[in-house]
Amino acid sequence: MRNACLPLFIMITIMMTQPLGAQSLLYQDSEATIEERVEDLLDRMTIYEKIGQMTQLNITTINETGHQSNVELVEEKARELIGEHHIGSFLNGEAVPPEQWFEFMDGLTRLGVEESRLGIPIIYGIDHMHGASYLERATIFPQAINLGATFNEKHSYNTGYVTAIESADLGHHWNFAPVLDLGVNPLWSRLWETFGEDPHVASVMGTAYLKGLKTEDTNPKKVAATAKHFLGYSDPKSGWDRSPAYIPMQAIHEFHRPPFQAVIDEGIETVMLNSGELNGVPVHASHELVTGLLRDQMGFDGVVLTDWADIEKLVNFHYTAENYKEATYQAVSAGVDMSMTPLTLEFNEAMKELVEEGRITEERVDESVRRILRLKFELGLFDDPFPRSDRFDRIGSEDNRLKALDAARESIVLLRNENGVLPAENPRKIIVTGPSANSKRNLSGGWTITWQGGEEEQFPDRVMTILDALNVEFPDAEIVHAKEIPEPDQLNSADLIIYAGGEEPYTEFIGNINDLSLSPEQLDDISKLTKSDSPLALVLVQGRPRLITEVAIDVDAILFAGLPGFEGAEAIANIISGKVNPSGKLPISYPMNPNHFIPYNHKPSDVYFFEGGNPNEIIQEDQDPSLFPFGHGLSYTTFEYSELSLDSSQLNEGDRLQAEVTITNSGNRAGMESALWFLTNHVGKITRPVKELKHFEKISLEPGESVRIEFSINPEEHLAYPNQKGDSVLEAGKFTVRVGGLSEEFYLDLMN
Ligand code: BGC
Repeated sequence: MRNACLPLFIMITIMMTQPLGAQSLLYQDSEATIEERVEDLLDRMTIYEKIGQMTQLNITTINETGHQSNVELVEEKARELIGEHHIGSFLNGEAVPPEQWFEFMDGLTRLGVEESRLGIPIIYGIDHMHGASYLERATIFPQAINLGATFNEKHSYNTGYVTAIESADLGHHWNFAPVLDLGVNPLWSRLWETFGEDPHVASVMGTAYLKGLKTEDTNPKKVAATAKHFLGYSDPKSGWDRSPAYIPMQAIHEFHRPPFQAVIDEGIETVMLNSGELNGVPVHASHELVTGLLRDQMGFDGVVLTDWADIEKLVNFHYTAENYKEATYQAVSAGVDMSMTPLTLEFNEAMKELVEEGRITEERVDESVRRILRLKFELGLFDDPFPRSDRFDRIGSEDNRLKALDAARESIVLLRNENGVLPAENPRKIIVTGPSANSKRNLSGGWTITWQGGEEEQFPDRVMTILDALNVEFPDAEIVHAKEIPEPDQLNSADLIIYAGGEEPYTEFIGNINDLSLSPEQLDDISKLTKSDSPLALVLVQGRPRLITEVAIDVDAILFAGLPGFEGAEAIANIISGKVNPSGKLPISYPMNPNHFIPYNHKPSDVYFFEGGNPNEIIQEDQDPSLFPFGHGLSYTTFEYSELSLDSSQLNEGDRLQAEVTITNSGNRAGMESALWFLTNHVGKITRPVKELKHFEKISLEPGESVRIEFSINPEEHLAYPNQKGDSVLEAGKFTVRVGGLSEEFYLDLMN
């Protein structure tokens, strides 16, 4: 035995770094439990192999051109990163055909399994944010703000479902969605990536998305989801992306935490951190938030990933660390499992030094690697790692397209419709103008084809602009596309003028603004159009509520189109013609004024006025300072709410109270209505919102049809609220339930 005289640690090193033979080891045995496999594999790994698993690198480190848009694998680069540096994860890409993704992922997977000593498959992460947005031929759904506007969780489920169907086979194992930040700051450049300002809507929609993404119809392939960006990212004080947010912990627990908690309770696999600072500390360097809150209090036991180059940001953006090594120490000590480094090996180098110096223990590394390996095993990557190409006919199928169209149709919000100018029945001439009239990219926004949204020529031919869709919708009408605002005579000859304005695509810091107003040029053009005798419809294609107060009153109809995706133009045209009856409702408050942004669930003292200027006559009831309030949305029919009843006016802790209401379609068109149930807690030791959405349901009604719907109120779920520590507080007293303009009071009694 020649080895017998070698020191023990050298023997162990030799054993650990030798390639494995063909024998099947416990971690390779698909019959063993995941925990057995994880522990067996972990035992065989060197510390360097473990550190490699904690690293995620960008596609630009292994592709041909070093540019994001290129999905061509350079084997030597990947071989080195996987073989020598043990990298366990890569991310990103752009919209190339499935065949090309297949080739890329097949090659990368082979290197992962063959070049790593233990055959550990790589896990690939991607931002398929509203459908498989980085895949050519994919089905592109409306963005999340539109899904919120549908108030119909089916559409969020379908978005997750179709995304999984169209990407699971390609080896896109890890989808960086849903975004569960709360859309409370109208200036924020990512507002449209959220489901809106209400925590309950975000919780329901996020959970539905997750269920869709976890469909068994992708079997044996699976896709993991990511709740992002934990926590407090969405409400920066200045409105700029990743600038500091100051949110009291009580408000964090009450408003920002619930959507994350909902998907954690539903078993979401991964969480991406907010790389901005919250209350003075970058979240990804906060042990209190990542380990204390996310892990210990909220019970998350999956993989925690940083956002893009976050560790570096601690050095050159937040200045909490002097160098990369200290930054790494801060992030890993906070509880980070994986670093989206993503362009260098700095994280690996820093980790090696920190472990060698004993500042980060191998046990700490094991904690993270255990979670990462568990995820890889759960996704089936060890047993069936390769992508497959035999189900590509499911990508962009007609069935999937119809799901996206259905979502887009229900997501358009009719904000204003003076004298019923819409729908436009049998118009002879429509003039359509504005910067979004003939644009595909504006309808889809960022994270579509590319990070900042593709260029016009990158969009498939079959995708329509609003102009295209109007031509299809009104084959007998003359549709005039005016690039400039026409002369008054010409305007007056139209039966309808449509101004499609809003914003061009953007996300993150590229979308920072200093002024929420719609651009002066657009306001000016709209103002000119209002002088015409012809009815004017404004179509707002935008990711956030740009201020339109100065023109709104003079415009006959306003549609909030948001970012409705590839099928958005057809949906808008369907609503203008009346083929589809609008049923979207605002998932945000549309602000009236440039310096007063208040969500609907604001505190009583947020909004008030003095009757007759008398300081002793404060009026607070039923005040909403927005131009269009949260939940506002018109239909071409009318819905009447009647007979709101409670089965008791007294509710005891531990019991439930049943509320019921009748909704009647009292108009002459079939339509859909989302019933929004709000609760008000009249007295609270921590001031209570004036009202809070606690339940919603969307129903379809034929003209004259009625339906009775219900809301079952449970004190712990619907009446309690969290204190500063996140503990639940239930207080006896008066509550009001509200739905469709009706309200009823009841009282809660506590046992002691
Ligand atoms: C964004 C994330 C995204 C990541 C990877 C970051 O800049 O904030 O939402 O998942 O990039 O592309």
